[in-house]
Amino acid sequence: MKTQVLPVSGESIALAAELLRQGELVALPTETVYGIAADARNGDAVRKIFEAKGRPQDNPLIVHICGMDMLQGIVSEVPERALKLAAAFWPGPLTMVMPRGAEVSEVTCAGLDTVGVRMPSHPVVQAVIKASGVAFAAPSANLSGKPSPTNAQDTLADMHGRLPLILDGGESAVGVESTVVSVTGEHPILLRPGYITKEQMEAVLGEEVQVSPAILEKLKEGEVARSPGMKYKHYAPKAQVTILRGNFEAYCRYVAEHAAPGVWALCFDGEGAQLPVPSIEYGRNHDGATQAHHLFTALRDLDRHGAQVVYARCPEQDGISMAVYNRLIRAAAFRVVTL
Ligand code: TXA
Ligand code: MG
Repeated sequence: MKTQVLPVSGESIALAAELLRQGELVALPTETVYGIAADARNGDAVRKIFEAKGRPQDNPLIVHICGMDMLQGIVSEVPERALKLAAAFWPGPLTMVMPRGAEVSEVTCAGLDTVGVRMPSHPVVQAVIKASGVAFAAPSANLSGKPSPTNAQDTLADMHGRLPLILDGGESAVGVESTVVSVTGEHPILLRPGYITKEQMEAVLGEEVQVSPAILEKLKEGEVARSPGMKYKHYAPKAQVTILRGNFEAYCRYVAEHAAPGVWALCFDGEGAQLPVPSIEYGRNHDGATQAHHLFTALRDLDRHGAQVVYARCPEQDGISMAVYNRLIRAAAFRVVTL
C-alpha cells in the first residue's frame, strides 16, 4: 500500500473523511500524540488498526468525538462525574471510561462493557470528525511497543505502507497521550496519567481520584491491570534505559563511572555539556510540561543515534510529571537505581 503524507487543507481533510467513511485508516495529529483513526462502529475497519500497529487484540481503543451530542450511542449512560469533568476539560487531553453504548463495535472495546471516550481540542481532529460524521477509534500511531509519534515524520517511519493517508499538522503540543480516568465505579480511578492531572480533577470533582497501582510501579505477579494498556512494556527504545533517581551531582558521578562507547545520557536542559558521554536533553528540570513535550522524540532520537545504554534523569511523580515518570519507567522496563 502507498502511504501519502499531505499537509492539512480543505482537500486533505475531505479525503480523510471519505477514507474513514469507507472503513479505511487515516493517521492524523491530535494535541497529545498522532493517532490512527478508524470508524469506531465498524469492526472490520477497527481490526485494520490492530493489524497496522501489531497491537494485542485485548487492549481497547479510545473513541474520539467532537460534541456532547455524539455521546449518544457511544455510551449507554453519562455519569454525573463525567459531566463535571467534561465541562472543565473537554475539548482536551482527557479520556473518560464510561458504560459502553450499543453502537460501538466490540472490536473497539476489546470485548469490555466500558468504553474510553475523548473530545480532542486539536482543530484537525475536530474538522475530520465534523466532515466525516464518524466518531473514530484512535490509538497512538506507533508500532506497538514503540514510543508514540508526536509528528508526521515519526508516524511515517512506523506506518509506511500500512495505511493510505497521514495528515501532517505539525508537532503535537502535549507530547504524551491523554489522561485516562474511569468514572463508572464507586470512586474515580486514574488509569493513565497525562497532561490533565489527578490534582486538577480532584479540584473539579471535590473527591479523591484513586491512582491505579500499575501507574507508578510494575504490576505484581497475579495482579490484574484495570487499564489493559498498562500491563505492557511500552514506549521502549532499542537501548537499555535505566532511570537514576537522585540529585545531579550523584547522577554525574554515576554516569562518569559507567561511561563507555554506546552509553548516552537522557538529561534535563542545560545538563548535557557537563557530562562525559553524549546526551539528549528532554525538557527542563522540575517542569513536567516541557518534559512531556520532548520525551518521546528524545527516545526516538536515542535510537537514531544508535545508543546502546541510556542513563535517564528521574522526573518527579506528581502533576504532569506523573505522566512523564509513568512513560519513562516503561521505557526503562522498570529499571530504577536510587543513587
Ligand atoms: O491521547 C490519546 O489518548 C491518544 C490520541 C491518539 O488520542 N490515543 C491513545 O490511545 O493513546 P491508545 O490506544 O494508545 O491508548 C488507550 C489507553 C490504553 O492504555 C487502554 O488500555 C486504555 O486507554 N483504555 C481504553 N479503553 C479502556 C476501557 N474501556 N477501560 C480501561 N482502559 C481503557
Ligand atoms: Mg499507545
